[in-house]
Amino acid sequence: MISHISHLECPQCRRKHSADNLATYCVCGSPLFVVYDMSGVREEIDTEVFPSEMNSMWRYSQLLPVKSPSYVVSLGEGWTPLLLSRQLGKHLGLRMLRIKDEAQNPTGSFKDRGLCVAISKSLELGAKSFGLPSAGNAAVSTSAYSAAAGVSAHIFMPDDTPEPFFEQCTLFGAEIVRVKGTISEAGQEMRKRNGDWTDLSTTKEPYRVEGKKTLGFEISEQMGWSVPDVIICPTGGGTAIIGIWKAFEELEALGLIGSERPRLYAAQSGGCAPVVRAIEKGTDNLEPWVNGDTTALGLRVPSPFAGREILNAIRKSGGGAVAVADQDIAPIRRMVGKLEGLDICPESAVGIAGLRNLIESGAIDFDEEVILLNTGNGARYTNIKL
Ligand SMILES: Cc1ncc(COP(=O)(O)O)c(C=O)c1O
Ligand SMILES: [Zn+2]
Repeated sequence: MISHISHLECPQCRRKHSADNLATYCVCGSPLFVVYDMSGVREEIDTEVFPSEMNSMWRYSQLLPVKSPSYVVSLGEGWTPLLLSRQLGKHLGLRMLRIKDEAQNPTGSFKDRGLCVAISKSLELGAKSFGLPSAGNAAVSTSAYSAAAGVSAHIFMPDDTPEPFFEQCTLFGAEIVRVKGTISEAGQEMRKRNGDWTDLSTTKEPYRVEGKKTLGFEISEQMGWSVPDVIICPTGGGTAIIGIWKAFEELEALGLIGSERPRLYAAQSGGCAPVVRAIEKGTDNLEPWVNGDTTALGLRVPSPFAGREILNAIRKSGGGAVAVADQDIAPIRRMVGKLEGLDICPESAVGIAGLRNLIESGAIDFDEEVILLNTGNGARYTNIKL
């Protein structure tokens, strides 16, 4: 099955851009989104909904940007299980909770989805090597997919990132630069060096969101083409929450679902919560969070580039944003380990603490269908004592 990609479009100024060249973001400063020829996809899925024998996110290749399958660098990403919580949901006071277990991706996190698509599409458009500032998991994904593609990866990570992240990037043959500060400073350092790599920074190119979008497709397909009431998204740079929102828009355009949407809740650490602050203040833009810090390293994103799009997804879905204390992370990881047999990452522990707060405040009802993203495996986070 072939991609029905049409062009790129700016969600702010509505300028159209070609999808035939390597692209970054719009001249107005906004991220760009991929637009597909939906009527073409609709005709195809009249006869066959996505191929059930394909146990990866490439079952949705009509709605992914890569035109020639020969450029797809797959390690078997996506189509992760939607686990029924045996005990955690009840413990939190929910009738039923499901966990989309993204730790089961090839390198252990949901970053594989976005980077698999971005790397494959960029190779199709002529990229020869990749550069990325990262909090950890995205670096491991980029290193692995670059290795599989036979091209070089240049990774810029905060120097306090736990060693297992560096070790895995090294194992996959990446060049690594350690930078003082957060992912923001890592990005500045990467731009200063001005290498001839293709920049894969979060939402500064259009294709990582496309990979993350498959999370929304899978959740809906695994629920028999329906939608849950709530999805809890640990949010840093925002690719998942933006991608999931886009997924449901596309599924409606295809007639696979109606106008119903899950409420999307962004969960952040109180130590770095620019999204929560903007939702509380009602602003259209995110203000950078000064001296942001949290042990949930993927959420240590003081100034997400796609702020407007994150806020748009949350508000249009009728959801919200919730900040929690870092002290909750270790106890919650221990609790989930005991109750579910899962070694969740600290970002997902933030999601669970957020869910608990939302249940306590009455924002989420006991009877609602809630899906929690376990965005990655906890084992690499040696910065947290369990
Ligand atoms: C495990 C984990 N969860 C969540 C996030 C936040 O991701 P997003 O860009 O979708 O907001 C990250 C980002 O680094 C991560 O590594
Ligand atoms: Zn624009």
